[in-house]
Amino acid sequence: MTGKARRAAVVLAAGKGTRMKSDKAKVLHPLGGRPMLSYPVRAALEAGCAPVVVVVGHQAESVKAELAKDLPGAPLSFALQSEQLGTGHAVRMAVDALKAAGLGAGDQVLLLAGDVPLLTGATLQRLAEAQGAWKLALVTCLAREPHGYGRVLRGLEGGVLRIVEHKDASEFERQVKEINASIYAVEAGFLYEALEKLSPKNAQGEYYLTDIVAQAAHVGGRVEAIVVDEAEVAGVNDREQLAAADAVRRQRKLSAMMRAGVTVIDPQSTFVDDAVEVEADATLEPMVSLRGKTRVAQGASIGQGAVVINCTIGANAKVLPYSHFDESEMKERTTAGPFARLRPGSVMLPDSHIGNYVELKNTTLGAGSKSNHLAYLGDATIGAGVNLGAGTITCNYDGVNKHRTIIEDGVFVGSDSQIVAPITLGKGSYVGTGTTIREDVPPGALAVSAGKQRNLEGWVERKAPKKKAKE
Ligand code: UD1
Ligand code: CA
Repeated sequence: MTGKARRAAVVLAAGKGTRMKSDKAKVLHPLGGRPMLSYPVRAALEAGCAPVVVVVGHQAESVKAELAKDLPGAPLSFALQSEQLGTGHAVRMAVDALKAAGLGAGDQVLLLAGDVPLLTGATLQRLAEAQGAWKLALVTCLAREPHGYGRVLRGLEGGVLRIVEHKDASEFERQVKEINASIYAVEAGFLYEALEKLSPKNAQGEYYLTDIVAQAAHVGGRVEAIVVDEAEVAGVNDREQLAAADAVRRQRKLSAMMRAGVTVIDPQSTFVDDAVEVEADATLEPMVSLRGKTRVAQGASIGQGAVVINCTIGANAKVLPYSHFDESEMKERTTAGPFARLRPGSVMLPDSHIGNYVELKNTTLGAGSKSNHLAYLGDATIGAGVNLGAGTITCNYDGVNKHRTIIEDGVFVGSDSQIVAPITLGKGSYVGTGTTIREDVPPGALAVSAGKQRNLEGWVERKAPKKKAKE
């Protein structure tokens, strides 16, 4: 053996996950904005594994596509297990990929399942070190309710001798509380040989991966077990466990953010996806939901009940309560809400401001510009220092096509005006209140469309409908 020993991983994700009662493969159910499978794969990558071979079977094509999308550029490879004949059979399906990647005697392969989203890279690192010069090490935990799991049987000196599956265990063996978490580090040469020797002669007629543990104890001396907290290696099998795992993931994420200087007023009610980044001195009020790849810069505050999806919120920006933002950007010192809406493609340039019931779609609002009340601004390019009165509406849709509105710097639009696109309001122009703009307005002009007001004297006395007398 020359050169540095290498480390790869195999992640089992071929099963259907019947208890999810879902059309979607279990490992694709989302957790914090990523497919569940992405977490153990990330832990393996964090522990330095390359490649990570994912064994797929049920909905193989979607599993591959979604994972590759969540981990672009990662050293992933896939092996197909078209029939689920057991965990040992599943790992066997990955052997060609491991060999093709050059993994051989003296190298290390970590084996894990795709349904343990809370497993950390640090635990895998510890496991890898525990294997060291031995053939195999595994992760175990003390289970409050060990029913159904493989039990860890240890010898007099404390080393692990073998795993017995619940269905194969005697009453005496079932008393053991230490269970197999199904996470292993194995020396590659030993693994290849051990997989060849598996047989399905057991209660379930499956090729059990667990049987390689007894083989390692037999040929390789000591089998180390690292014992971790049950919560970290709990498998997700149904939707209740999915929600419980997400609660733990969320608290971990929020703790890390708070340690890094973010104020989270109520961690219990704050929802933050895994890929979200929040800088120091930002504040998250209760019931905030930050999703996808949202970024929140230093000093920004996100008001109660706001939902922010794939957005960038600039330094010292203020999102007031109950706003909904999607695929948009607020630059520094902007303010939006309460009850504001940013739809995809919207950008608020520095110091701009939108107030209650203002909706932007695919619109740029220029530096220092304001739309404080009740507006729809769609497909518009709005310059700097513009003031849009209450009830301004860009009529961007003619029933077939969408058209752009250009509002140049310093324009003032009076309240309750409709601007029918495609159209340009020239620099510094004014629009009188209640105007329907159908033609371009030259720079510096005042546009009005309402007719002259008439007052009909005495009309109310003569013509207004009268209330009927009470019967
Ligand atoms: C396995 C272990 C058991 C351990 C438990 C921990 C075996 C024989 N038993 O049991 O000791 O306590 O995990 O959760 O390994 N899979 C495939 N192809 C297959 C079979 C399974 O890809 O042919 C995948 C599943 O999708 C799943 C993982 O392997 O992600 C584990 O399979 P599962 O059937 O849940 O294992 P258990 O029987 O629970
Ligand atoms: Ca099983």
